[in-house]
Amino acid sequence: MSSAHTSIELRSDNSAGVAPEILEAMVEANVGSAMAYGGDQLTARLTALVRDVFEHPEATVYPVGSGTAANALALSAMTPPWGAVLCHETAHIMQNEAGATSMFSAGAIMRGLGGEDFMVDADLLSEDLELFGWNDPHHSQPSVLSLTIPSDYGTVTPPKEVARLTDVARRWGLKTHVDGARFANAVAALGCAPADLTWRSGVDMLSFGAIKNGGASCDAIVCFDPELSEPLMYRLKRAGHVASKMRFQSAQLIRYLTDGLWLDLAGRSNAAMKVIAEGLGELGFDVINRPDVNIVFVRAAEDRIAAMEEAGLVFYRIAPGVFRFVTSFQTSIDDAHEVVRRLRTL
Ligand SMILES: Cc1ncc(COP(=O)(O)O)c(C=O)c1O
Repeated sequence: MSSAHTSIELRSDNSAGVAPEILEAMVEANVGSAMAYGGDQLTARLTALVRDVFEHPEATVYPVGSGTAANALALSAMTPPWGAVLCHETAHIMQNEAGATSMFSAGAIMRGLGGEDFMVDADLLSEDLELFGWNDPHHSQPSVLSLTIPSDYGTVTPPKEVARLTDVARRWGLKTHVDGARFANAVAALGCAPADLTWRSGVDMLSFGAIKNGGASCDAIVCFDPELSEPLMYRLKRAGHVASKMRFQSAQLIRYLTDGLWLDLAGRSNAAMKVIAEGLGELGFDVINRPDVNIVFVRAAEDRIAAMEEAGLVFYRIAPGVFRFVTSFQTSIDDAHEVVRRLRTL
């Protein structure tokens, strides 16, 4: 348990270390030599495992070096250069990726939509597409719907709603992508099958996060549409995202997906956040989001925020009077109770 003098890490799940099981798997992969660029046996095993976990016999999986690469490259294979990717106005692809999707797609734009709780609203999407100026060369044509699950504000869209959204998208000829940088946290929170939150609900491609949840150096793109898989492969190579020693990426993802480790790690960060969020509520803090997973945004007076920093809580200030806590698989339940204890003593 952390004492009042030790700091407690709440900046980001990106600040956490690597799950020991995953490090071990990388060491185990470090024997002898293997075919480069994904021609190795571990990468073949990864594909089989992903097909098993997602219950999809044709799914393909491509390890990449970051969540931004996963999003931008997945989307670039789904949209023409004159396309528009519709997403929530708070989506990471629109706000925090420096236009990576526009660069890799040779010009597609992101267009932000509204929706309560930081998630795209199916009715607003439908209305937007109905009123859109189709076939007008002045406007980038809607080509992809990108959902962030969980959202950047830690809210989770359940499978039924995903299906409603992809239904609208499909009616207008749009493909659907999911930014799942924290996909494990969403599946752990919902207790659903990964297939239900993706292809069974109409999702064509998934950016599957691992780094924020105990991975060392790779996320992955999981493609459920065989027609999109081949163009994606060439785009990955052109962007420098086909690792020559892919077996070390595949080893991480195999261990991540074996014996439910990914859901166990995500369950830990979700559980720690539950304790902290309940504490924040009891202490009368103004919580901005519904903390379905491991992220909470809070409004507080500046002097209260400064006192939290002095009490050893390490977190990001998002805007004047707004801070964010993010737990990780390394945040223990004891840590979470200690956070609440320190908040209580302010
Ligand atoms: C929702 C979401 N998507 C994508 C990313 C991008 O991941 P990376 O920083 O590995 O590029 C992040 C990172 O914080 C994120 O929160």
